[in-house]
Amino acid sequence: MKRFVFQSESLADTDRFGMALAAALSPGAVIALCGTLGAGKTRLVQAIAGGFGVPADTVVSPTFVLCQHYHGQRTLHHFDAYRLNDDDEFLELGPDEYFDSDDVTLIEWADRVERCLPDERLEMQLTVTGEQARQFECIAHGEEMQALLQQLSESL
Ligand SMILES: Nc1ncnc2c1ncn2[C@@H]1O[C@H](COP(=O)(O)OP(=O)(O)OP(=O)(O)O)[C@@H](O)[C@H]1O
Ligand SMILES: [Mg+2]
Repeated sequence: MKRFVFQSESLADTDRFGMALAAALSPGAVIALCGTLGAGKTRLVQAIAGGFGVPADTVVSPTFVLCQHYHGQRTLHHFDAYRLNDDDEFLELGPDEYFDSDDVTLIEWADRVERCLPDERLEMQLTVTGEQARQFECIAHGEEMQALLQQLSESL
């Protein structure tokens, strides 16, 4: 499955989606989060991290620190590319080390650093569809991610 769309009608739906995604992610997974300000990128990272047992309040937007690390059943690296000026600034943060590890890496505003991302990744396009509603369009890049999307769609 190359594309899967999830309609979240509430924060509870987003948490359920994050939980299901966390359960389906294989080691070394990279998730590229795209969408406007307030679309729900950070909130979705919170939901996914929750799926790995990371308390929600430890997950905050890394807009100023640019990268944060959470330790649950899996280690998560959370980037925000919003304030970066170019690809080099992103690469200086050392993302390649995480891409090559068994950890999970999540990148907000990933479209800004797309050329630095691995071929195998899950792209997520977030859209505001209502006050409490969000659309999560998932696009699988690479065969492993296509298998993941299939599993995810069946578990929701
Ligand atoms: N169904 C939903 N799923 C996710 N977030 C929702 C939902 N309904 C409402 N929201 C709210 O939308 C807001 C999303 O903010 P969030 O910080 O996650 O956006 P963002 O995409 O990370 O923005 P930024 O580009 O500024 O980093 C939160 O206040 C969240 O509570
Ligand atoms: Mg954010």
